[in-house]
Amino acid sequence: MGEISLDLSGKVALVTGGSRGLGKAIAMAMAIKGADVVICGRKQENLDGAVEDFSQAGLSVMTQVANVGKSDQVTDLFQAIEKRFGKLDILVNNVGMNILTPAVAEAEESLWDKTMETNLKGTYLTSSRAVSLMKKTGGGKIINISSIAARRAARGMGIYCVAKAGVEMLTRVLAVELAKDHINVNAVAPSVVKTRFSQPFWSNEDLLNEIVKTIPMGRIAETDDVVGTVLFLASSLSDFITGEVITVDGGSMA
Ligand SMILES: NC(=O)c1ccc[n+]([C@@H]2O[C@H](COP(=O)([O-])OP(=O)(O)OC[C@H]3O[C@@H](n4cnc5c(N)ncnc54)[C@H](OP(=O)(O)O)[C@@H]3O)[C@@H](O)[C@H]2O)c1
Repeated sequence: MGEISLDLSGKVALVTGGSRGLGKAIAMAMAIKGADVVICGRKQENLDGAVEDFSQAGLSVMTQVANVGKSDQVTDLFQAIEKRFGKLDILVNNVGMNILTPAVAEAEESLWDKTMETNLKGTYLTSSRAVSLMKKTGGGKIINISSIAARRAARGMGIYCVAKAGVEMLTRVLAVELAKDHINVNAVAPSVVKTRFSQPFWSNEDLLNEIVKTIPMGRIAETDDVVGTVLFLASSLSDFITGEVITVDGGSMA
């Protein structure tokens, strides 16, 4: 057996939605582990804020404005990565949005489309571009950020639940299709993680207490609770794992 290590030196990693929250924590951890890291997001000012955090930590990062749901912007992003690094070893599909929506049958079609475009189509678009780059170097790792909402029909989160369930099936389909190309495709499914996205859940004390009652470990997650699992799936330690969804939820789905 080779050395047991989470070292990512020499690897190039793209973390979508890496300008804040979980994506930024993953991106910084990958940079600390030696990877050349690229992050994208829709807003330049958010990317600029992340660059500041990276440089305060003595790290560097490449940024590019790109909406993962827009094919032309994804193409530009991957062209920029190829031009700068010539390859991509790790893709973390972290972008996710629109957690709170009306009941599915009452939601506007445009809300359905936007939620699917960002959460599901975006994962397909970036994965397909990444695969053509990864094939050139003989393999890679794709890690999709799902949610326990993919497996539990939560009121007020219906479209997001359906989109994340799609992300988990996309994970399994790509894993089967790409195993011959030495591309591992896995997902991580957290419960509530303390970020801006989940603020409606943790900023209301009564609601937070109700949520915490459902978590055997008695607290919601911090971003660092999820980062280690993503690093493991990005590293050689997980080379024989593909098509898997690892739940990171303090026991709430147990
Ligand atoms: N937080 C939780 O409780 C929780 C629980 C389970 C799963 N998750 C999943 O974890 C992932 C990260 O969530 P988070 O809580 O860190 O979210 P967050 O704090 O809202 O951060 C989202 C990031 O994605 C970017 N982004 C949003 N839409 C984008 C798009 N269409 N194209 C490119 N970038 C986009 C945002 O930057 P811009 O606004 O500048 O685009 C930001 O950098 C999501 O997939 C989410 O579903 C979160």
